[in-house]
Amino acid sequence: MATKLTAIRGMNDILPDDIVYWDYLFTHFRRLADSYCYREIRTPLVESTQLFYRLGEATDIVEKETYTFDDRNGDSLTLRPEGTAGTIRAGIENGLFYNQIQRLWYMGPIFRHERPQKGRYRQFYQIGMEAVGMSGPDIDTELLYLTWQLWQNLGLADSVRLEINSLGSFAEREQYTQRLIEYFTEHKAALDEDSVRRLEKKNPLRILDSKNPALNELIANAPSISESLSDESSAQFEQICTALEAAKIPYIINPRLVRGIDYYCHLVFEWITNDLGAQGTLCAGGRYDALVSQIGGADTPAVGFAMGMERILLLLEAQGLKLEALPDVYFISDVEARSQALLLSQSVRRNCPNLKLLTHCGAGSFKSQMKKADKSGAQYVLILGEDELAQNTITLKPLRQKAMPQTVAQDELVKLLTSIFTKEQ
Ligand code: HAM
Repeated sequence: MATKLTAIRGMNDILPDDIVYWDYLFTHFRRLADSYCYREIRTPLVESTQLFYRLGEATDIVEKETYTFDDRNGDSLTLRPEGTAGTIRAGIENGLFYNQIQRLWYMGPIFRHERPQKGRYRQFYQIGMEAVGMSGPDIDTELLYLTWQLWQNLGLADSVRLEINSLGSFAEREQYTQRLIEYFTEHKAALDEDSVRRLEKKNPLRILDSKNPALNELIANAPSISESLSDESSAQFEQICTALEAAKIPYIINPRLVRGIDYYCHLVFEWITNDLGAQGTLCAGGRYDALVSQIGGADTPAVGFAMGMERILLLLEAQGLKLEALPDVYFISDVEARSQALLLSQSVRRNCPNLKLLTHCGAGSFKSQMKKADKSGAQYVLILGEDELAQNTITLKPLRQKAMPQTVAQDELVKLLTSIFTKEQ
C-alpha cells in the first residue's frame, strides 16, 4: 500500500463539522464590519520577500518565522506572515490612499514557522482591519469599540481583557529604546541568549515581551515608556482611555506591552483571555504611522488590528457553543422513482431557497434510507414510493415530533413546505 500522506505539521484541515463554527464567527464579524462601513480587501497569499523586510528585520516573524523560497524565476517570495503589509502594499499600488481615507478588512490564512501547540499553528487564519489616513485618537477608539462589540455579540465579553499602552511617536520610541539599551547593557550578564540578540540588534523593546520568568524582575525594574512620552502623546493616549471609560469598556494600562512587530507607534493593544493558556492573545494591533511611507507611499497615518480565528473558536468551544448544520428535509425514494425525486428536489430548491434539502442518492432499501434520514438530523422526511409515484403524490413525515404524515399532490409540495418552514422560522 502506498505511504499515507499527511498534512504539514502545524497546518490543519478544517472539516465539514467545524465549518459551521467558522461561519458563525465570520458571519458575526462580517455583520459588524458592514455596520461600521469597513470594506473588504483580498490580497495574494504570496508577496515579494522584500515587502516583509520593511516590517523590521529584528521582528521575530521576519527574522525566524517566514516561509521564504525562490520561485522558478529565482525571485524570492514569502508566504504572508501577517496581513497588514500586503494590505498597505495593495492600497498604495492601487491608489486607494491617494487623498482618501480607507476602512478595510480582510480574512484569510497567514503562515508562520512557529513551534506548533494548541492555539499556535503554522497556517492560521486572521481577520484583520486597517483604517488608513486618520491620525486618531477617534479612529483608534472606533476600533477598540468595534472589537469590544464583537466580544459582546459572541458572548465572550466576560472572558477577555483589554491591555493597552502607548509607545509614543517614533522619536519618543527611539529615545526610550536608547534608555532601554543603556539599562539592559548594564545588566547584560543577566540576560538570556534571545534577549542578548535583541539587545545587539538594537531592539530592546522586544526584551520587555520576554516570557522567560528569570527575567521578570529585571524587566519589572526597567525604565517605563510613560516617562518618555511627550505631553502631546500622553494627551492622545488619555483621550483613548477616557473614551474607553465613557463606553464602560474595562481596560488595563500595561506599560510593558510593546507588541512583536516593529511598525507600531502611539497606541498598541491586545485582547487577551486567561482561558486558553499560553496562547491567550485573541486580537492585537495598534497604530503604525510610518509603514505606508516605508512601503513607498506618501506619509499616511494608519491603525489596525488582527485576530486569530482559531483562538476565538477555541474559546467559543471552551464556553460550550454547540452548532450543527443539519438538513431540514431528507428525501427518500424508490429507485424507480429516483428521477422524479431529483426533478421534484430541483423545484423545491428553486422555490424554497432557504430550505436545506438532502436528496438520497445511491442504492438502499426503504428501511435503510429511512434510517439515514433519521441519522441525518433532518426534521422531516419526504417519501416518494411506488404508490406516490403511481398517484402523482408525495408524503411528508415529521421525524422529531408526534404528528401525522401528510400526503399531497406533487404540485402542492412547494406550498406545503413553504407553509411549514415559514411558520417554523
Ligand atoms: P500579531 O499579534 O502578530 O499581529 O497577530 C495577531 C493575532 O493573530 C494574534 O493576536 C493571535 O490571535 C493570532 N496569531 C498570531 N500567531 C498565531 C499562530 N501562530 N497561530 C494562531 N494564531 C496566531 C499582526 O499580525 C498584525 N498584522 C496586527 C495588526 C494589524 N496591527 C495593525 N494592523
